[in-house]
Amino acid sequence: MTVTIVGSQLGDEGKGGIVDLWGDAADVVARYQGGDNAGHTVVEDGTEYKLSLVPSGAVRGKIGVLGNGCVVNPETLFGEIDALRERGLDPDVRVAERAHVILPYHRVLDGIEEKAKSESDSEIGTTGRGIGPTYEDKAGRRGVRVGDLFNPDVLRERLEYVVAQKRALVEEVYELDVSDLEDPDALDVDALYEKAREYGRRLQEDDMTVNSGEFLADALDEGRDVMFEGAQGTIIDIDHGNYPYVTSSNPTAGGAAVGTGISPGVVGGGEVVGIVKGYLTRVGSGPLPTELGGVVGDTPGYDEQGGGDNEDLATYIREEGGEYGTVTGRPRRVGWLDIPMLRHSARANGFTGLAINHIDVLAGLDEVKVGHSYDLDGEEIFTMPATTERWADCEPNLRSFDGWEDVNWAEVAEEGYEAIPENARTYLEYVSDELDADIYAIGVGPGREESVVLEDPFE
Ligand code: IMP
Ligand code: MG
Repeated sequence: MTVTIVGSQLGDEGKGGIVDLWGDAADVVARYQGGDNAGHTVVEDGTEYKLSLVPSGAVRGKIGVLGNGCVVNPETLFGEIDALRERGLDPDVRVAERAHVILPYHRVLDGIEEKAKSESDSEIGTTGRGIGPTYEDKAGRRGVRVGDLFNPDVLRERLEYVVAQKRALVEEVYELDVSDLEDPDALDVDALYEKAREYGRRLQEDDMTVNSGEFLADALDEGRDVMFEGAQGTIIDIDHGNYPYVTSSNPTAGGAAVGTGISPGVVGGGEVVGIVKGYLTRVGSGPLPTELGGVVGDTPGYDEQGGGDNEDLATYIREEGGEYGTVTGRPRRVGWLDIPMLRHSARANGFTGLAINHIDVLAGLDEVKVGHSYDLDGEEIFTMPATTERWADCEPNLRSFDGWEDVNWAEVAEEGYEAIPENARTYLEYVSDELDADIYAIGVGPGREESVVLEDPFE
């Protein structure tokens, strides 16, 4: 069977911990979208591994697959594999031949476009990994796929076509001199070709490439369990998120089918678990109706870090929750849980269950609020409007819950659900009712042991 793990908010919901928790029961862990913009930390035997591309299951001896819907930077991939090998592990990672390759010019263009947009304060706040430009080339039918790395003629032809375009873009649209770039080779066909051939040779030598749909379908036919590991989250999905403040792929559950080659019926016939952080965070720009305080440079219209109760609260939650980007180290914006956002997410994904994380982070507050609905032009609405501009006009109607005390969460994890403070259970059950999905797990601390598990989706 399959279990699909999906971020229900803006990413960073703690998916890694949940994948880790349940991934043990899986034989294969497959990613279906995104690239090295993701970031997860896996702790195994007291050792910490920071990964952005390699599926975390690979640290635990599972087969990791990067599906056709992913964009793969071979530098990052090999870097992570080598680092794991140095630490005595032997990760088994397979890469879809249909996945697109992030090449050096994609990163360069990501940086150039963000900088240009920042002049009118309209930058997205991307991770700078070249994700958007690579998906653009995929949709524009000028991308380089993993399978192309093995075919010298096709590779050269692709590069000659695409690099000429990129050069024109850099020189004529952005009016920059290629020779002034930090890495001028990023736009040099010969240098790129050599590099790409080298990537191809290593992938071939290590026998790493697969036809992902075929590989995964075979595994399922043999009765193996497959976990689909979503990266990012529903509200930064290119279709269902707050466009244009989105990533360029589909983190939503439908992406698990399209991005691996496994049919929607199989994905939907399995479990789809929505990962919810007990509050809300966001990296980068865009609206956030339930935001507390703000982060200069990211929160729209917020120019100065100031005092104020809400800002203190935001700072408190940020520090308690360690809310700094895994990939970029940037402070995350913090807000209350946004229930209209989660209703939208539950509809788009069809959650069969929920994992709600970071309940411990909120412990000790007198009250915990949620945005229960929005007020938009004097009308109460219960889900997100389809345009980001209208979303920004939404005023949350807050609902207050009594806070819960800080307790020994490690003990709670051992004792189970009833050991969770009563007020926290009231909060959790409210979320579960609103989303019409059962709670499968509750995260009460960073380690995978620090979870209260009510249901194992693979059983
Ligand atoms: P990109 O994916 O680098 O193009 O960035 C686009 C938007 O998605 C930015 O707002 C990023 O902060 C956000 N983003 C991308 N990856 C992640 C992630 O793993 N967690 C949270 N936000 C992310
Ligand atoms: Mg992450």
